[in-house]
Amino acid sequence: MDRRNFLKRSAVTATGLTMSSLMGKSYSSVFGQSAPGNKIKIGLIGCRNQGWANLKTFLDYSGTECISLCDVDDQWLYQRAADVEKITGKKPPQLVKDWRRVIDNKDIDMVIIGTPDHWHCLQLVAACETGKDVYVEKPLANTMEECDLMVRATRKYNRIVQVGQWQRSDPHWDEAAAYVQSGKLGRVRTVKVWAYQTSKWTLPVVPDSAPPAGVDYDMWLGPAPKRTYNQNRFHYNFRFFWDYAGGLMADWGVHLLDYAMKGMNVGLPSYVYGAGGKFGYPDDAMETPDTLMATYKYPDFNIIWDHACGIGNGLFGLREGVAFFGENGTLVLTRQGWEVMPEQGVNSRNFPYCYPCDNERKPNTPRMEAVEKKTGGGKGLYLHAGNMLECMRSRQLPNADIAIGAEVAKLSHMANISCRVGSALNWDNETGTFDNPEANRLAKAHYREPWKLPKL
Ligand SMILES: NC(=O)c1ccc[n+]([C@@H]2O[C@H](COP(=O)([O-])OP(=O)(O)OC[C@H]3O[C@@H](n4cnc5c(N)ncnc54)[C@H](O)[C@@H]3O)[C@@H](O)[C@H]2O)c1
Repeated sequence: MDRRNFLKRSAVTATGLTMSSLMGKSYSSVFGQSAPGNKIKIGLIGCRNQGWANLKTFLDYSGTECISLCDVDDQWLYQRAADVEKITGKKPPQLVKDWRRVIDNKDIDMVIIGTPDHWHCLQLVAACETGKDVYVEKPLANTMEECDLMVRATRKYNRIVQVGQWQRSDPHWDEAAAYVQSGKLGRVRTVKVWAYQTSKWTLPVVPDSAPPAGVDYDMWLGPAPKRTYNQNRFHYNFRFFWDYAGGLMADWGVHLLDYAMKGMNVGLPSYVYGAGGKFGYPDDAMETPDTLMATYKYPDFNIIWDHACGIGNGLFGLREGVAFFGENGTLVLTRQGWEVMPEQGVNSRNFPYCYPCDNERKPNTPRMEAVEKKTGGGKGLYLHAGNMLECMRSRQLPNADIAIGAEVAKLSHMANISCRVGSALNWDNETGTFDNPEANRLAKAHYREPWKLPKL
């Protein structure tokens, strides 16, 4: 389905209307479910950080129940079992280290996948095959090939899959995209998207060691290449190693670039150039660039990505955001809200700073009406979980359907791949290939035995 048709279809599940009716109500009261047997039964795979944030949020809706937890690390498995008990009064009956036991569990309606990116594809496809709906974390997968496969599995098995890009359920993001599409900014010629992160600073090198007690390290590695344990590559910091993830580009990129594409109503570009490296911390352990810029070229505008680890002063002094530069004004969108900065300085001949007629210039004449600053509601994750539950009942596409997650994950990977091969790349969306053999190799998944890329 192309993006335009997709947007039309997904309008049925528009956030504002449906979600406002859910706010402050229990899930069961909204859907008329009262018997405890009608609760949505959840299994969580990957319990430590975001997986847990997701589960906790789902449990805020009273028509839900956690019946299974899975983690390869005993510490987090038992910690989260205790946390669930604290919230619900009941320990989940199934606590396992092997995620396939969750897939086998016929009582589970929905699986939350909160594992590192290199696991998402195998776990999602298996869950879909066994008739479970899935809330899967972003970025959708660690390769472009897996992204396509995951979309196919979702459609083949008719599953509801919500990707953890929760901005899609936070109403101010869609309001901003609609404003951009209204044309009031004039022609938008550049969209800048940036993430400047002081929290993702640097990873000092540490020696390899034995895995911590209680960790099934081989099951953590899964389809990724075998290697000795190193704590830098493990919980949370796996983000900065190609075997498991795509660095800041994929981590933050999918949240923000999604709205660059949505605002401009486009899919993947035909050209990308990503350039960067370990400019800030050349000797630390991270593999992914601490500094990266990418240009995505479309017929009459560019999307520019820009990230830095260890610097907080991004564009407009903001750590991250999306800015649409139109000829009449610039719209800046962040998790906190959005605002428009009108272009100034149009003179009577509609040409700024023209010489020798500069004396005719009317100073500070804005090219568009002022727009009131909009503040975000800060309930994105809560609304996203509610939208998932609602779509499980209605079988409508959720706000961050898998096609959305796949497209933006591929967009992020394109820039990483260009940076890694060290050249600009042309992308053919029909054939799903680059004009560079090494780039095409990096777009594919290379699984370690005995794990096999699912066939569909
Ligand atoms: N949507 C968001 O805002 C958001 C925020 C943070 C992270 N994330 C995403 O969530 C995912 C996880 O990131 P994190 O920060 O929570 O990582 P994390 O390392 O803190 O947690 C991952 C957990 O998965 C477990 N795990 C790994 N392999 C497993 C397997 N085969 N079976 C069962 N458990 C396994 C780990 O032991 C760990 O407990 C990533 O894809 C990340 O990009 C999304």
